[in-house]
Amino acid sequence: MQSWQRHTDPLFVPYNVPVLSEDQEETFWRYWTEKPGTISLAGVLDGRFIAHILLRDHDPQAACADLGISLDPGFIGQGLGTELLLLTRDFAYQSLGIERITLDVAAWNQRAIRAYVKAGFRETGRRWIDWDTPVDFRALLQGPENQWLWEHVRIDTGYTIVLVRMCAQKTRSL
Ligand SMILES: CC(C)(COP(=O)(O)OP(=O)(O)OC[C@H]1O[C@@H](n2cnc3c(N)ncnc32)[C@H](O)[C@@H]1OP(=O)(O)O)[C@@H](O)C(=O)NCCC(=O)NCCS
Repeated sequence: MQSWQRHTDPLFVPYNVPVLSEDQEETFWRYWTEKPGTISLAGVLDGRFIAHILLRDHDPQAACADLGISLDPGFIGQGLGTELLLLTRDFAYQSLGIERITLDVAAWNQRAIRAYVKAGFRETGRRWIDWDTPVDFRALLQGPENQWLWEHVRIDTGYTIVLVRMCAQKTRSL
């Protein structure tokens, strides 16, 4: 992930992979590969690692898990995220016994929401949450091209954003 391209869109800069020391890399690696209830998956294209997908809080008894995905910015917007989400969903259903996959996504992240919908996720709720982020929404919201953001972001002493809850549910054959 350290060799991935960088997001230049100011909204997505927080999604850039931080530059890590070897020790920090080791810590991340252990966190993602050894944390109980976490399944860490790699999206690979022509032998190249282009996406990190996490199934978190896997509860085998409840047959559910929470999903997170991050694609190398050099590969976004080409349909690969949707394809990886579908592969992950089917792997979770068929090989892990998961029947329900949930996720939370910022309402302003329309590209991610569109990819989730294409991969079979449906919205189950919305709520406002406080968000501690380095994104300078104060500056962004002043631009006429960013007026659409007002629906999803409020500025007070900090930022509050709309979080969308989504879910994909395995359909059982009768
Ligand atoms: C979210 C992510 C995995 C999606 O993968 P992707 O490969 O970029 O998505 P896809 O190309 O499969 O699909 C994107 C869809 O959104 C649409 N889209 C792109 N920008 C959009 C925008 N600003 N508004 C609405 N739709 C948009 C695309 O047109 C496409 O839909 P279409 O096929 O119907 O035309 C990837 O963009 C990513 O990793 N982003 C950065 C990290 C992130 O946001 N993670 C999710 C956190 S919850």
